[in-house]
Parts: sequence; structure tokens; C-alpha cells
Amino acid sequence: MRYRTIGTGAAAREVSAIALGAMKLGGTVDDDTSFAILDRFADAGGTFIDTANNYMFWEPGCSPNDSEQLIGRWRASRGIQDGDGIVIATKLGARPTLPGGGMESWEGLSAPAIRAAVGGSLERLGVDAIDLLYPHVEDRTVPLEETLGALAELVSAGTVRLVGASNHRAWRLERASAITATRDWPRYSVLQLRYSYLRPRLDIRLPELGHVHVTEDHLDFLRTENADGRPTALVVYTPLLYGAYTREDRELPAPYDHPGTPLRLAALDTVAKQTGATYNQVVLAWLMDHDPPIIPLVGVSTVAHVDEAVEATQLKLTAEQRELLDRAG
Ligand SMILES: NC(=O)c1ccc[n+]([C@@H]2O[C@H](COP(=O)([O-])OP(=O)(O)OC[C@H]3O[C@@H](n4cnc5c(N)ncnc54)[C@H](OP(=O)(O)O)[C@@H]3O)[C@@H](O)[C@H]2O)c1
Repeated sequence: MRYRTIGTGAAAREVSAIALGAMKLGGTVDDDTSFAILDRFADAGGTFIDTANNYMFWEPGCSPNDSEQLIGRWRASRGIQDGDGIVIATKLGARPTLPGGGMESWEGLSAPAIRAAVGGSLERLGVDAIDLLYPHVEDRTVPLEETLGALAELVSAGTVRLVGASNHRAWRLERASAITATRDWPRYSVLQLRYSYLRPRLDIRLPELGHVHVTEDHLDFLRTENADGRPTALVVYTPLLYGAYTREDRELPAPYDHPGTPLRLAALDTVAKQTGATYNQVVLAWLMDHDPPIIPLVGVSTVAHVDEAVEATQLKLTAEQRELLDRAG
């Protein structure tokens, strides 16, 4: 396993270079399989686990508590304590407040909503403090100062260790950075966005509600924050496009239907043949050594998925292979 640092100073944490997406665990993936997945990831040196306070409310038969509660049960059964090196990230703001509700009833990011949501996550995860907490999506009905102030209170009370931002536009991140710098509040030191090797058209909407894709502006913002001494990590979700790189039963979503896609797939094929790695592993290796560096957040539902992702941390692309992949499409 390779490792990366997120956060700074006393709040800095070392995390595995690949994060495990626990979205389906405890929901569509049964407890035995979920525990086996988490055990395998931890045995392989994996220390970074991602969940949210709403996974997977949209799936029939599942509840928004499933993923956090599953992680809580796994921690308890394995005797994992705070400080044992496992870093759990969770998110708030996009949990329906009504049973069967959707986006119209999301809890949002007001100060009272944030305070209320955190208590639920602490209880379900069975932790004294949340290692990394992200607002899941933007809430423009609430002043950014109110959201950032509520997060600052939680950090100062020791209830949250690091704060990040998920699915935020680049200009909102810059605005948040300016506010936290002026008030001396904790910054968004981790960003979570959608990204993979294949690029979607950004002039049409992604089909998934709430997903915000990495743009050139995000990358420019990140490089500048890091160069200016404000370390900011990038975690990316849906890196494997739900398995569509390798599986015939998975179609690429419509925004990926453009002339650049076959060119990128051809470059991926060349590098996979040269390295003997799978397409998924080349994609993950390309992400890990990206500029700025990226922590891929891989969603899994089997132990074999964990193995394939973890093995990708051994793969180092040559400068020529990177160049071929970067220039394609
Ligand atoms: N911040 C956000 O708004 C946001 C949004 C989405 C996801 N996330 C986080 O990111 C994580 C990953 O995202 P994701 O699940 O959307 O995307 P993903 O990692 O691209 O796809 C995960 C799915 O791909 C399939 N898969 C995984 N590894 C595979 C392999 N080696 N071979 C073949 N198929 C494989 C599995 O599908 P099957 O299970 O069907 O077999 C798996 O559930 C989630 O668990 C969640 O923690 C965050």
C-alpha cells in the first residue's frame, strides 16, 4: 500500500492512497460480505473509508443509516478504536428529513441541521469524533458563513477532526477559502468530486443527481492552494465508472459518448497490454500519480474488487505511458 497525508498540523492524518467506498455496504451488500471486504482492505494496509449519512436511501429496501451503521458494527466487532489508524470520512447535508423523501426534503447545511446531523453520524459509526466530515452537496439557501461557522464550532469542540467539501463548484471553494482565512476557521482541506480517466462532456448534465465533475478550474484551484501552503487533497469518486471499463453489463453514461472516448480507450488498451495490468488498474495508477495527486475512492461489492484496486497501488506508469494517456482524446 502507498500512503498520503491529508490535513495539516495536529489534524494531519496518514491515509492509504486508495480509499474504500462503503456506499453499498450494509445496504445492497450483506453484512458477511461487507465485513469480509473491510477486513481485506484493512489487511492490505487500507486505512481510508468513505461513507455518508444518506447511503443508500434511494435504494428500495435500504435505509440512509445502512452504510454508517455497518461500519460501526465492523469497528465494534474488530475492536477498532479511535487512533488505531483507520480514518473514516462521512458526509452530511443530503439526507432526506422525511421517510421516502427525496431532494426536496434534504437536511441542508444550516447550523442547526449540521449540529443535528453530526450526532446521528457519531452514534451510527460508534466514534467519539468524526475524522473527516464533508458537506455532501452545496446548499445555497444558507449563507456560506453559517455553514463554515457551524463546522468550525464542531472542530473546536473536538467533535470533528478535518473538514472537506464534496460536490462544490470551484468558485464556491475559493469563496469558502477566503472566508475561513479571514475568520481563522478550519479550511476545506479535502475535496471530493467525480473524476476518472474518461472525460464526460461538461456541457450536458451527468445523469446522477448531485454529482459534480472535476473541471480545469478545480485542478487550477488545487494546484494553487497547495503551492501557496494550504495543503488540499483531492479524493475522486466513480473512478471506475461503475465497472464500465471492463464489464459488458455496464454502459458508459451518455455524456461520455463523444469522439474523445474511443481515443482514450485505445490508449488505455495500449498501456494495459504494456504493463499486464487491467484497465481498472491503469486508470487507478493514472489517478494516483496525477497532477495534482489524487486519492481514488473505489466503490466495491466483492472482495475481488478490493484486491484488484489494492494491487493497482503497485503499478507505476512510465513517463511515456503517462504522456500517451494524457494526450489521448
Ligand atoms: N460525494 C459524492 O457525491 C459521491 C457520489 C458517488 C459515490 N461516492 C463515493 O464513492 C464511492 C465509489 O463511487 P461509485 O460506487 O459511484 O463508483 P465506482 O467506484 O466507479 O463503481 C463502483 C462499482 O463498480 C463495480 N466495480 C468495482 N470494482 C470493480 C472491478 N474491479 N471490476 C468490475 N467491476 C467493479 C461494482 O459494481 P457492482 O457492485 O454492481 O458489482 C462497484 O459497486 C462510493 O462508494 C461512495 O463512497 C461519493
